[in-house]
Amino acid sequence: MAVEERGAAGPQRLVGAEGDYDDQQLEASLRPGTLDDFVGQQRVRAQLSLVLEASKLRGRTADHVLLSGPPGLGKTTLAMIIAEELGVPLRISSGPAIQHAGDLAAILSSLTHGEVLFLDEIHRMSRPAEEMLYMAMEDFRVDIVVGKGAGATSIPLDLPPFTLVGATTRAGLLPGPLRDRFGFTGHLEFYSVPELELVLRRSAALLDLAMTSEAFSEVASRSRGTPRIANRLLRRVRDWALVHGVERIDARAAGAALDMYEVDVRGLDRLDRNVLSALVGKFNGGPVGLSTLAIAVGEETETVETVAEPFLVREGLLGRTPRGRIAMAAAWEHLGLDVPDHAAFKDPALRTALSTEPGSADRGSTGSGSDDASSA
Ligand SMILES: Nc1ncnc2c1ncn2[C@@H]1O[C@H](COP(=O)(O)OP(=O)(O)O)[C@@H](O)[C@H]1O
Ligand SMILES: [Mg+2]
Repeated sequence: MAVEERGAAGPQRLVGAEGDYDDQQLEASLRPGTLDDFVGQQRVRAQLSLVLEASKLRGRTADHVLLSGPPGLGKTTLAMIIAEELGVPLRISSGPAIQHAGDLAAILSSLTHGEVLFLDEIHRMSRPAEEMLYMAMEDFRVDIVVGKGAGATSIPLDLPPFTLVGATTRAGLLPGPLRDRFGFTGHLEFYSVPELELVLRRSAALLDLAMTSEAFSEVASRSRGTPRIANRLLRRVRDWALVHGVERIDARAAGAALDMYEVDVRGLDRLDRNVLSALVGKFNGGPVGLSTLAIAVGEETETVETVAEPFLVREGLLGRTPRGRIAMAAAWEHLGLDVPDHAAFKDPALRTALSTEPGSADRGSTGSGSDDASSA
């Protein structure tokens, strides 16, 4: 959903978490192939390793696995690792590719014994396909409907046992019955800077890049907690070093390269900084309605809401309240300004109305309607 919902600034953005064509080319070569090489996500990794080990010991196909979390954190990578570790083939499809139950039936009936079926963006599957999947997951059986109307009959078809690995950026959108049929759910979290340094070290070694420790941490801290972004920034740093004839990349070189691409020390790009500057400079830190803020930045409301806001909220730079958007103390600090005495975030009433739960800013595409009510 994310890709289509985003405005023009979305997919092409240097700090966007969705992968584009260039990413796919390189990602294939940078993907870790085993659970041991997969950096971070300790808990998910340990739990998953247990699921896989147990299935090998029992000699049965592994439980169905659901992987949830924001884009770029390693869901596709983990699905590939699961098949690899189980030593079985992997079939890849996605929710949007399965529009009719028949599409799913064709895939399911051609699976081999023990195969891993990876369904990316599983929350975007059509209803009839979803219902077929319930039965397939539970009983390894589907009913194929033949004919139409009164003459329609359903033919039961047995399937070989398989392991479904579903991935979703929006676990909340999955219907309960589907969620319940997964034996294991792993939720991926954003990565810490030291973890991203490890991801970058690994990638740099594969790309044959010489970099200092400080250079790794410089790139890691601008990567928004996301390995995909870290790898993409690394490519830009590599290009910069090549053009400037730098053989060993240090922090200064890495910083200069990323400054040139307008990705700042916290990973904000120009759009993010424009939103913050407008909020602080033109509206004294708010509260200001989303649409007013968007006009001030010269962007679509939706771009501001879905592209810039989620990260700004997550970083504690921007707050969403029923009366509009407000700048948090960190926003002034990040822009190198003094926090004014009368800033809105200090108002106790607004503080308590803040929606700060993780991901709240990117839930629901029109969830902002009421936010603007008083300021429109
Ligand atoms: N834990 C990790 N360790 C090393 N590299 C990772 C890790 N997670 C993701 N990556 C890298 O980030 C890129 C995007 O990961 P991917 O699995 O495609 O994310 P998602 O499917 O969640 O959007 C891949 O190139 C992968 O190599
Ligand atoms: Mg993916």
